[in-house]
Formats: sequence, structure tokens, C-alpha cells
Amino acid sequence: MNDNHLQETIRLANAVGDPKHAVTANEGIFLYNRAKECSKGVIVEIGSWKGRSAVWLGRGSQAGFKREVYAVDPHTGSPEHHRLYGKIWTLPVFQKNIERAGLSNIVVSLVKTSEEASKDWKEPIELLFIDGRHDYKYVKQDYDLWSRFLIPGGIVVFHDSIRWPGPKLVVDEVIYKTRDFMKVGIINSITWAVKKKT
Ligand SMILES: C[S@@+](CC[C@H](N)C(=O)[O-])C[C@H]1O[C@@H](n2cnc3c(N)ncnc32)[C@H](O)[C@@H]1O
Repeated sequence: MNDNHLQETIRLANAVGDPKHAVTANEGIFLYNRAKECSKGVIVEIGSWKGRSAVWLGRGSQAGFKREVYAVDPHTGSPEHHRLYGKIWTLPVFQKNIERAGLSNIVVSLVKTSEEASKDWKEPIELLFIDGRHDYKYVKQDYDLWSRFLIPGGIVVFHDSIRWPGPKLVVDEVIYKTRDFMKVGIINSITWAVKKKT
């Protein structure tokens, strides 16, 4: 795997279209590189929309250790989508984008809310990407339900954490006001943090 794989990933992520509700190219390259490093646990994405971030994560994993990417989304949208488009059903277009990217054997779609999917969850997680509902209550719930599976040295990534009040407040509470993480960084609207090893 090399630069050609990344170039092809940029093309495939752009082919998903609808950039308004998805990660930027810089954020995508970050997700690709972090997913590529995952060898000890799986990757979980909360909130998939049409699959742009899942393409970045899945292609990164494909270039690395080929760990599963679990893409959790009921595919019925969030309040900001309902205000713009009314009723939402993104599963068919998500599946088409994952197939076109050659990721059907890496990206596992869980068509459930984060809360429903977490109930049967058991696997250690090395990369947790939180981009579901953006109200404080839901972001905090996503973090609380899933972060307990994050392995030491694993990474949690919050999207829209700079300007959206919900994710921003959760990041302040669980990252900046605790001693649970050993490294923290920001890429565009992403805040990421690596869980302490001890
Ligand atoms: C901002 S979009 C995700 C964009 C995607 N990560 C990307 O960059 O391509 C938010 C998504 O969260 C999903 N969502 C809403 N409520 C959810 C919940 N309770 N659990 C999981 N996902 C949820 C919506 O259906 C929507 O697709």
C-alpha cells in the first residue's frame, strides 16, 4: 500500500458527494492514517450518513491491518437533516458507496442507534469516531456507552467539536478536564485524544 492507495481513496471519498454533512479532506486523511495503524482492536464509527468518513476509515484499515470498521447509524438522519430534507433514509446510498470503494469485507454496517448497537457490544476498540447526533446529551451518551471499550493507547475522535456546542462541551468535560488521555490534537473540526496506557 502506498501513495496510489491514498490518491484513490481521495477519489472514492469525493465520489460519495454531499460534502456539506461529512468530514473534510484533511480530516479524512487523518482518519485514514489512524485507521491504518489499528492492529489491536476494531474501529467504530458513530454516525455514517452517506459513507464518506466510513470510506476514509475503511480504506485506511485496508492499507493497514484490515481490522473491521463498524459503521453505526439508523440511517434516518439527525434533526439538522430533517430540517433541511424532511424524511431521511441513507442506507442504500451508503451501501452503494461502500461497495464502490471495495470495502464490503471491511465496513460492517450496524443499522441501529448508537444506544441499541452498544447493548450487545463486547469487542475492544482501538479507534472510536463520534459523529452521530450533535446535541450534548447524545454526544455524551455516545462517549459514555462506547469509550469503556477503548483500549489503552486507543484513540477517540470527535467530529464538529470546535463550533458545535454539544460536541465542544463533551470534549471539554471528558478530555480537557480529566487525566484520562496522554495526547490531544485538533484537525479542522476534529478533536482527537489517545487514552493513557496505565
Ligand atoms: C453528521 S452525519 C455523519 C457524517 C459522516 N460521519 C461523514 O463524515 O460522512 C450524522 C449521522 O448521525 C446519524 N445518527 C443520528 N442519530 C444517531 C444515533 N442515535 N446513533 C447513531 N447515529 C445517529 C444520522 O443518521 C446521520 O447519518
